[in-house]
Amino acid sequence: MDQDEEERRRRAVIESYKVVCICNKIRRGVIQKAIDGGATTIDDVRRRTRAATGPCGSKRCGPVIRRMLRDS
Ligand code: FES
Repeated sequence: MDQDEEERRRRAVIESYKVVCICNKIRRGVIQKAIDGGATTIDDVRRRTRAATGPCGSKRCGPVIRRMLRDS
């Protein structure tokens, strides 16, 4: 593995630990795993992870989750 590849993997791990849903403390990696496992809508992600079910009504995490769904 070259240094660029190692750096990409390191950044991916750091990204996966970032909290996307602040209300419920759900990390990006958990949401990505739900998407990789077949979630295709924000409701699917809600059911699988509890993200976007907090008191803010997904105002903070909803746009990020929608972007992740779009980009997957
Ligand atoms: S940040 Fe996800 S529901 Fe509030």
